Amino acid sequence: MVKAVVLGAAGGIGQPLSLLLKTNPEITALGLFDIVNTPGVAADLSHIATPAIVEGRLPPNDGLKATLTGADIVVIPAGVPRKPGVTNHDLFKINAGIVKDLATGIANFAPKAFVLVISNPVNSTVPIVAEVFKKHGVFDPKRLFGVTTLDVVRASTFVAEINGAPTSAPSVVVPVIGGHSGVTIVPLLSQSSHPLPSSVSTEALAALVKRIQFGGDEVVKAKDGAGSATLSMAYAGAEFAGKVIRALKGEKGIVAPSFVAQAADPEGAKALAAELGAELEFFASNIELGKEGVVKIHSLGKITEGESLLVKAAVPELQTNIKTGVTYVLEKY
Ligand code: NAD
Ligand code: LMR
Repeated sequence: MVKAVVLGAAGGIGQPLSLLLKTNPEITALGLFDIVNTPGVAADLSHIATPAIVEGRLPPNDGLKATLTGADIVVIPAGVPRKPGVTNHDLFKINAGIVKDLATGIANFAPKAFVLVISNPVNSTVPIVAEVFKKHGVFDPKRLFGVTTLDVVRASTFVAEINGAPTSAPSVVVPVIGGHSGVTIVPLLSQSSHPLPSSVSTEALAALVKRIQFGGDEVVKAKDGAGSATLSMAYAGAEFAGKVIRALKGEKGIVAPSFVAQAADPEGAKALAAELGAELEFFASNIELGKEGVVKIHSLGKITEGESLLVKAAVPELQTNIKTGVTYVLEKY
């Protein structure tokens, strides 16, 4: 029996994500919470012939408490998305409060759940959740994940395109490390399961890295005021949630990148910090998942000189982003 919950379930990501979770046969209960429209979304999804019993709730009548009670996994895509001209900093001003309130709910009603944070800016919202959990004495670093899977999905798709083999896209795996915004997104193309052809020029390689780092901008621009990535994000979120669920059901050896508290695996974190030349409270790298959440934080392994420069550029930005999230909770609450 697995109960999955989506907080922000009526939104651009929330709806397709809830649809994909409804089609996951491992999920037996699906709780949908938002400040609008969840009864309608739940009624709609409940007509799909898959095991999950769907319930949609709104804030009145303890809706958040009822939704979260018994949850094994909670995915959070609640919050405002970008439009052209809107920065991550602008998002933080609104989303920090939303994430803090929802994290408080999780701390009270589902303190043992695996929590997957999608709301931006992920580099700061994940630290907010951690600090709220610490304040409630329920922080388990092994159970908190910033969802960076969309970067992996994009990197894999673009590499398959360059290789002229779009049909191989689902099997391409490119580790993406660091965080989830601009220069903090570091694709390790040298570790791609499907290597790029040696004919790819240095300029083309740099352009590919940039496209992965700023893939979000591509979608924001194309949507022209109607928001940011929703469908590809729902796909990515469902992919990662599916892996977490398989691990919690006992499957071993599942490895995927995620932005996690380094306290989840102090030994792995130490090796990683030595490679990074810095100790960060949170970092995205390949992690092994298990029944209790993070089993192992993998180190980077062999990377190129160019990738090493990308890591160097990512570290200070990440440190600032993490501090922003931590300070928000420490100063305000
Ligand atoms: P959206 O505006 O379409 O949906 C957000 C939903 O959150 C809305 O339905 C809204 O009612 C709900 N919401 C707001 N406050 C809430 C609260 N207190 N409790 C419950 N629900 C609440 O936005 P979207 O396009 O779905 O994007 C959501 C977030 O995901 C944004 O912050 C966006 O930047 C982020 N995002 C992250 C990634 C990633 O890779 N991690 C990718 C794309 C988007
Ligand atoms: C993305 O990567 O598409 C998201 O983080 C949304 C955004 O604002 O870029």
